[in-house]
Amino acid sequence: MKLLEPMMYTKVLMITVAIWFASIIYGQEAEAPTGDVAEAPETDSFDGEGACGYGNLFRQGYGLATAALSTALFNNGYTCGACYEITCAHDPQWCLPGSIKITATNFCPPNYTKTHDIWCNPPQKHFDLSLAMFLKIAKYKAGVVPVRYRRVPCVKKGGVRFEITGNPYFLMILPYNVGGTGDIKAVQVKGNKTGWITMRKNWGQHWTTNVVLTGQQLSFRVTTSDGVTKDFVNVAPKTWGFGQTFNGRINFQKNDLSFVSS
Ligand SMILES: *[C@@H]1O[C@H](CO)[C@@H](O)[C@H](O)[C@H]1NC(C)=O
Ligand SMILES: *[C@@H]1O[C@H](CO)[C@@H](O)[C@H](O)[C@H]1NC(C)=O
Repeated sequence: MKLLEPMMYTKVLMITVAIWFASIIYGQEAEAPTGDVAEAPETDSFDGEGACGYGNLFRQGYGLATAALSTALFNNGYTCGACYEITCAHDPQWCLPGSIKITATNFCPPNYTKTHDIWCNPPQKHFDLSLAMFLKIAKYKAGVVPVRYRRVPCVKKGGVRFEITGNPYFLMILPYNVGGTGDIKAVQVKGNKTGWITMRKNWGQHWTTNVVLTGQQLSFRVTTSDGVTKDFVNVAPKTWGFGQTFNGRINFQKNDLSFVSS
């Protein structure tokens, strides 16, 4: 997989534009409210790691094609990594034709003291988009537009990546670049001297265990939200260290092997 050049992950201007989401889930069309459109809150939710725990979105291959999800969609971080197709709808004045595909990589926090523009409060289904993505589906001045969206399979290049952080007594794994449904519901880890150890979802997509696995080759067993489980065998050599990332070599989408690279 060709990673983006270092230049790309110095500061990119991220003007976050809010988009009101009409509820069309999994391609099932629902009534989209019209005329219920407000100004963009102009919140900036690009804050380094973000609530999913992903680090540098450019280096991780997500780029600008990402969004921050409101409480109703975020599902306490279980939705992190899911992919959506979005089109602007029912607003001929501001909508542009065509659609975008984004990966959920962050959380749009609710603000319960606000009385208007409460896009990210439950039960609103709402995404914050980068300006670059917003401009692919709507005119700049719109700020907030109703949209239609649906979950789509995530198409990722190369294998699932596993970032290892924490310390010997608190091993923390961040899987990213996940294809298929993209969102993970269970992770297990195996040292080559242990059996499978169930990891606990800590925050975002960080999965943890207190079992000490230093000095052992590591394998991972990942289950995505659709129930598909894959084993990523001997992903990290016994010399693995905290702060390192390893390529799981395979992914959840079909034909993933043809994308494999270092
Ligand atoms: C929440 O909304 C209130 C009222 O608009 C505002 O004063 C406050 O700064 C907001 N809090 C955050 C964390 O954005
Ligand atoms: C675990 O992996 C290490 C390093 O590859 C190897 O030396 C050792 O024999 C393996 N142990 C088992 C039980 O497979």
